[in-house]
This record gives sequence, structure tokens and C-alpha cells, in this order.
Amino acid sequence: MRLRSCCVYSAGVLCILLLIAGIAMALTQVFEKLINNKIKEQVVLENGTEAFSVWEDPPPPVYMQFYFFNLTNPAEVLNGDKPVVLQIGPYTYREYRPKEEVKFMDNGTRVAAVNPKTYVFEPNMSSGSEADIVRTVDIPVVTVMEKFKDNIVIRRIISDLMKANSIGIFGTFRVGDLLWGYEDPLLKLIKNILQIDDHFGLFYKKNGTDDGEYVVFTGKKNYQDFARIDEWNGQRSIYAQFESEVSVRGVSGFRFVPPSEVFANLTINPDNAGFCVPAGNCLGSGLLNVSVCKEDAPIIMSSPHFYQADDKFAQDVFGMNPNKEEHETLIDVNPLTGMLLRGAKRVQVNVYLHQIPGFSQTGKIRTLVFPVMYLNESVVIDEESARKLYTVVTEANVIINIPFIVISVGILLGVVFIVFMCRQQTPLLAS
Ligand SMILES: *[C@@H]1O[C@H](CO)[C@@H](O)[C@H](O)[C@H]1NC(C)=O
Ligand SMILES: *[C@@H]1O[C@H](CO)[C@@H](O)[C@H](O)[C@H]1NC(C)=O
Ligand SMILES: *[C@@H]1O[C@H](CO)[C@@H](O)[C@H](O)[C@H]1NC(C)=O
Ligand SMILES: *[C@@H]1O[C@H](CO)[C@@H](O)[C@H](O)[C@H]1NC(C)=O
Ligand SMILES: *[C@@H]1O[C@H](CO)[C@@H](O)[C@H](O)[C@H]1NC(C)=O
Ligand SMILES: *[C@@H]1O[C@H](CO)[C@@H](O)[C@H](O)[C@H]1NC(C)=O
Ligand SMILES: *[C@@H]1O[C@H](CO)[C@@H](O)[C@H](O)[C@H]1NC(C)=O
Ligand SMILES: *[C@@H]1O[C@H](CO)[C@@H](O)[C@H](O)[C@H]1NC(C)=O
Repeated sequence: MRLRSCCVYSAGVLCILLLIAGIAMALTQVFEKLINNKIKEQVVLENGTEAFSVWEDPPPPVYMQFYFFNLTNPAEVLNGDKPVVLQIGPYTYREYRPKEEVKFMDNGTRVAAVNPKTYVFEPNMSSGSEADIVRTVDIPVVTVMEKFKDNIVIRRIISDLMKANSIGIFGTFRVGDLLWGYEDPLLKLIKNILQIDDHFGLFYKKNGTDDGEYVVFTGKKNYQDFARIDEWNGQRSIYAQFESEVSVRGVSGFRFVPPSEVFANLTINPDNAGFCVPAGNCLGSGLLNVSVCKEDAPIIMSSPHFYQADDKFAQDVFGMNPNKEEHETLIDVNPLTGMLLRGAKRVQVNVYLHQIPGFSQTGKIRTLVFPVMYLNESVVIDEESARKLYTVVTEANVIINIPFIVISVGILLGVVFIVFMCRQQTPLLAS
């Protein structure tokens, strides 16, 4: 009897101690700090760390997939009908992108590198080959027409050259040519007069070249900055917005997407006035005129199938089917470590078409934004990294929950204590 009551009282005391300890640990967040320090050590980009070698040459494969819109009714379009397009593809390339010219800066808090990309065709993940034929807008032709539409003499020469060589605003192209470059017949005819390169391709000269220097934080000062792109060619990187919680290969993540205001028209987001080029000339929600960046080619960027753009653009072309799952740009990040779990960048290249005075080749075409191609550049964490990350996250969750486990044990002991106290007192009450 004595021994038993001793046990019961120890349980009571232990219960109170555990509760105090548990609550203290929960409030001071010792374990969170411990975990953060541990992660901090591991994710700093320093010569020799694993994080550095992963960053220098990321193990998960990056794929670039191209989809084209094959025009089925060119004659009708020149007569003012809506285009009817069929999506073809994907034409998939594996992207190799090791970091080069790596240099540490600012005492190791930032690191700079260039990131040349090499594209290798992946037949297994493609539907069709690079030799497939696609009928679409002849971008060099339309560009030349736009450029000289106000010069009566030159536009006459160009128009006659086009007639003599039966070149129109639509043409058929090999997929591989359209992407990586081909000699354009019209450009070839006028290249000596205009001193221009007569090759054209959407990714012409992009294979094996880099797009400028990146600067990222190494995480030495603040580990949550790890590999965040600080500057890209000196410009600030675009921000993203939390959308939902996801799970990638068993690892939990937060999904970030570009905020919809980024694409909104001026009524909704006046900040987008900068997208109206030339000033005051706005196309509407979801479209970006990148003409100046593309040597005056009338190129308009959007999300694939005009997802999140003004409805009228998708309605102007038969064959558009915008939807969130397939057409949104996203990144999934593990919140504990900041590691990238999945990313998909999806953009569409369009050409602005309208009747150009002096060029009978444009016929009675209606003014429209014609979709040529869209791409999906995507990456998913590889199995091995996912497994490692899963272990880290699981361990961290257990450790972070220690205070609550302690509190639970305390509560359990409290219950035991109360039950025994009541049992002991029952005979007393009865007597
Ligand atoms: C990393 O260290 C190796 C050998 O110590 C050296 O050859 C290499 O240049 C260093 N890399 C950088 C980016 O400092
Ligand atoms: C660089 O780091 C070293 C050692 O941590 C320190 O002594 C030095 O003052 C730092 N220099 C600068 C410019 O921050
Ligand atoms: C890109 O270059 C690599 C190596 O130089 C080559 O193997 C690959 O076929 C090229 N890709 C394309 C699409 O030309
Ligand atoms: C593509 O498929 C073939 C046959 O199924 C296979 O032998 C080859 O290894 C695959 N290539 C890649 C890169 O997966
Ligand atoms: C695209 O359309 C052209 C013309 O109708 C046709 O010859 C070609 O086979 C089509 N391409 C594909 C990949 O279906
Ligand atoms: C902007 O979009 C909203 C909603 O989609 C629409 O009501 C408004 O008319 C648009 N404004 C302009 C200038 O296009
Ligand atoms: C796109 O921008 C260019 C140059 O900034 C301009 O000449 C052209 O008219 C714009 N296109 C449209 C459709 O607004
Ligand atoms: C890329 O996106 C397209 C649709 O936009 C989808 O069909 C394709 O499966 C995606 N590719 C990967 C590797 O996720």
C-alpha cells in the first residue's frame, strides 16, 4: 500500500515536471533552432560541400518540351476566317546545364556563375521527330513586312520578291529547323542589301550558349537564402505567390505560382503599364509584347493556350483549350530546407497578325494574336535526392515534436495519477 502510493505520488510529480519541461521546450523552440542549425550547415554553398556539387551540376534531369500549332486552313485565314490549329508534340529535349565560371564573391556570401544549356533530342519522350512538318506563320517574312511597311519603295520590292518566289505569310517548316535555325529564302534574297543574318530559328544559336551571369546567395549569412537567385544579369528575379500544399515523391512542399496580377490588364493592375510597348499601346490581359527583345519581330508572349489571358484571344483561334493543370507555371519547394521539388516554366510564342497596307499577301486576314508554339521546361527532384530529403524531413518532424511528446507523456501520467488517487480515496469515502 505504501509502495503503491509512493509510485502514485512520483507519477504526479513527474507529470508536473514533464509538463513544465515540455511547455518550456515548446516555447523556447530549442529543437527548431537545433534543426535549423543542422540544415544551415548542410545547405551552404561552399567549395567541397555536397550542396555545392548538387548546385554546380544538378542531378535531376531537366526537360524542355515543345508543342507546335499546326495550321489547317491557311487559305481561309487569309480570307478573314478564324484559324483552326492542331497541337502537335511534345518534341522533348534533355537539357544539360552545368554551372561554369563559378566564382565566390563578398567573402563567400554570394556566388556567380554562367549556366550554358545544351539540348539533346529525347525520342522516347517525344511524339514525332525533328523532321515533322508544321505549317505556321513565317516569322522572318512577317518581321520584314512589319519593318518596311512604311517605306513605299522597299515594301514594293519585298512584295514583288515574295510574289516571284511564291512566299506568303504562312509556310511549312521542319520542327528542327524552326527551333534551331534554317536559312530563310526571303532573308537570303535581301541579306546583302540589309546586312542581316539570313538564318532564323526560335532557339537559333541557343544550344550550348549561356544567357548571362547569375548571382546567388550561398546561404552563409542566412540559410533560407540558399541558392536564391539574387541577380540575373543584374535584374531582380520575378516573385511568386503561395498557392497550395503539395507532395512530390512523398516529400511535402509548398506550391508557388506567378500571381495572377502579373498578367492582369491595366484596370486591374496599373503596375503593368510597363508592359504596354510602345507606351499606351496595351494588348490586354495575359499578353506581353517582346518585339524590342526579338529584333523587331512582332512576337507576343503569353501562357500556353492563352491561359489566364483575356478570353478573346483563345476565342479567336479554334483549337485553344486553356487549363490550369497543363498550362500554369509553377514551382514546388520544400518549406523546411527550401529545396526545389518540382518546377515547370510554360510559355507560348505568338505572332501579331493584321492586314498590312502595301502587302497583298496579308489578304483579308483578321487582326489576331496567332499561336505558334509553347514550351514546358520542367524538372522533378530525382528519386535519390527525394529519399534523402524525406529522411531529413521525417527526422526533423520527430525532433520538432519532442516537446509535444513530452507534454503528452506528462498528461498521460497525470491521468494515471488522478485515476489512482480516486481509487485510493473511494474506500475512505465509503467508510
Ligand atoms: C574548389 O576547390 C578546388 C580544389 O581545391 C579548386 O580546384 C577549384 O577551383 C575550387 N572552385 C572554386 C569555384 O573556387
Ligand atoms: C571575411 O571573413 C573573415 C573570416 O570570417 C573576416 O576576418 C573578414 O573580416 C571578412 N571580410 C569581409 C570583407 O567581410
Ligand atoms: C546541341 O549540342 C550538342 C553538343 O554540342 C549536340 O549533341 C546536340 O545534338 C545539339 N542539339 C541540337 C538540338 O542541335
Ligand atoms: C529509349 O528507348 C530505348 C528502347 O526502348 C532504350 O533502349 C533506350 O535506352 C531509351 N533511351 C533513353 C534515353 O531513355
Ligand atoms: C501539319 O500540317 C501539314 C499540312 O497539313 C501536314 O503536312 C503535316 O503532316 C502536319 N504535321 C503533323 C506533325 O501532323
Ligand atoms: C480588364 O479586365 C477586366 C476583367 O477581365 C475587364 O472588365 C476590363 O474591361 C479590362 N480592361 C481593359 C482596359 O481591357
Ligand atoms: C509591340 O512593340 C513594338 C515596339 O515596341 C511596336 O512597334 C508594336 O506596335 C507593338 N505591337 C503591338 C501589337 O502592340
Ligand atoms: C509539360 O507540360 C505539358 C502541358 O503543358 C504536359 O503535357 C507535359 O506532361 C509536361 N511535362 C512534364 C515532364 O511534366
